[in-house]
Amino acid sequence: MPDANPDKRAITVDNGSKKRESELEIREMEIDDLPAVFHLGERIFTSETVPTLYRTWDEFEVTSLYNEDPEYCLVAEVDDATVGFILGTTVTKTRSAWKYGYIVWLAVVPEWQREGLGSRLFDKLAEKMIDDGVRIFMVDTEASNDPALEFFKKKGFGNPEEQIYLTLNVKTYQEKPHRGRGSRRKQKNGNET
Ligand SMILES: CC(C)(COP(=O)(O)OP(=O)(O)OC[C@H]1O[C@@H](n2cnc3c(N)ncnc32)[C@H](O)[C@@H]1OP(=O)(O)O)[C@@H](O)C(=O)NCCC(=O)NCCS
Repeated sequence: MPDANPDKRAITVDNGSKKRESELEIREMEIDDLPAVFHLGERIFTSETVPTLYRTWDEFEVTSLYNEDPEYCLVAEVDDATVGFILGTTVTKTRSAWKYGYIVWLAVVPEWQREGLGSRLFDKLAEKMIDDGVRIFMVDTEASNDPALEFFKKKGFGNPEEQIYLTLNVKTYQEKPHRGRGSRRKQKNGNET
């Protein structure tokens, strides 16, 4: 008889001396998953894993991505408990015929890391995106996030491009003299006009 739910599969967990059979399911996120995903993200995306203000985990990340692209929001469940998720979207750039698949957030709870769940979440999302015409996958992560970098390298990601974030304190900005554009201009001979 065919499997009633092909997305569910049995996995064997090796806890040292004990082996346990568990049921893993990777499926599309549903509205009832929002709180679990949000709290899981809160646990994983702390100021250490996501130290820049550019990327902040909050409830709007989950709700807006789910609202925009629910088909690109997947959860991993083991024995009916949410243990991981992936949230993505697609981007089309002006003057580019290519569609990009952007992996915005990917997380697996520490107890379930290195069991292949992150990989399965990514593969399922990748297949959906390919079906929808995506030609390139994109992801960004902290340069210091070695596990994530190793993970994405293993999935085949390459060509890392460095990006530098600068900050400016408003007080410093206000203390700096500001000259209107062209108000004082040096002439070619060095004199100011
Ligand atoms: C990145 C992350 C999602 C990986 O999930 P995972 O379920 O542990 O990944 P997998 O088990 O599928 O690992 C696949 C491969 O990635 C590499 N990898 C994953 N975690 C690694 C680690 N901590 N150190 C070195 N390599 C690692 C390995 O090559 C691994 O294959 P292997 O176990 O056969 O050696 C997980 O570490 C995580 O949730 N990190 C915190 C959140 C985060 O940084 N997210 C990414 C940016 S949004």
